[in-house]
Amino acid sequence: MINIKKVSDISSSAITPESIYLRRREFMKASGMLGTAMLLNPWMTAAASIPIGDYARNVITPKGEDEEITPEEDATSYNNFYEFGTDKGDPKKYSTKFTTDDWKITVGGECAKPGTYSLEDLIKPFAIEERVYRLRCVEAWSMVIPWLGVPLASIIESLEPTSKAKYIAFTTLHDPQRMPGQKRSVLDWPYREGLRIDEATNPLTLLAIGMYGKTMPNQNGAPVRLVVPWKYGFKSIKSIVSIDFVEQQPLTSWNMSSAREYGFYSNVNPTVNHPRWSQKKERRIGDLFKRPTLMFNGYAEEVAHMYDDMDLRSNY
Ligand code: MTE
Repeated sequence: MINIKKVSDISSSAITPESIYLRRREFMKASGMLGTAMLLNPWMTAAASIPIGDYARNVITPKGEDEEITPEEDATSYNNFYEFGTDKGDPKKYSTKFTTDDWKITVGGECAKPGTYSLEDLIKPFAIEERVYRLRCVEAWSMVIPWLGVPLASIIESLEPTSKAKYIAFTTLHDPQRMPGQKRSVLDWPYREGLRIDEATNPLTLLAIGMYGKTMPNQNGAPVRLVVPWKYGFKSIKSIVSIDFVEQQPLTSWNMSSAREYGFYSNVNPTVNHPRWSQKKERRIGDLFKRPTLMFNGYAEEVAHMYDDMDLRSNY
């Protein structure tokens, strides 16, 4: 199982590349100079898009020894976020005016605590963790990203799902004025995704509110997105406004768009090719040569048991 360490158990420099470690120290210094308000309420930093205060109380780093963290510049300028355009550079270019203040999430369906919550209220009870995960896009490129967030399992537990809650459905904001890409019918908006309840509560699944020690950039799914590291990147839905506990497998955007190409499960699997290209290898952004794609994106130990009695060829 994954190894959860308290930050106090290991030095930061042992778990993060020096540049990030240094940036964190700079931030600690800076926040001291800015006074205590920010540390008492890290959410004050959200609107200004500066680093989150007290994070990384737990650090989970399930990544290979030989893997480098993708430069922040690449992870924030080569994006898929069709709400802001379909070219890789569009999300950064066209999301600059996107505001996410007072973000609300509506919780519904099979749970004891439905309602409309401020993002802050949903997240606040839990310690923010840093998780360094591989992100493997279905398009056969990948990155390694240090996310900040809370385990989705903690949030789910606090909402008290009923025994009928077999799946969770997630929806992205639908507002073509604020998300100009939605003026074109590239997908059937809003963007929708879903997970089976055991997948949603797997310890790896993260509700992320930041990356690289800062609040989530708009182009990466501000202010809150899912990170499901053993599945193709499109399962990691951005800018979430609703979470619904449901009995039946929910509709998901890419599956609705082309069921033959994009299954509900979409676990990273080098043995099941996309109908139009191979999934055996991937290009890590920044690398010259392709590398082999790993089953479940390298997280088999943590997640394979959930699919023991499933045929992953037909349930792709
Ligand atoms: N979420 C929404 N709402 N809209 C999108 O277009 N693209 C998905 C996923 N989440 C997408 C989305 C895809 S295809 C990938 S690979 C990842 O976001 C990319 O995340 P990144 O841009 O942070 O690397």
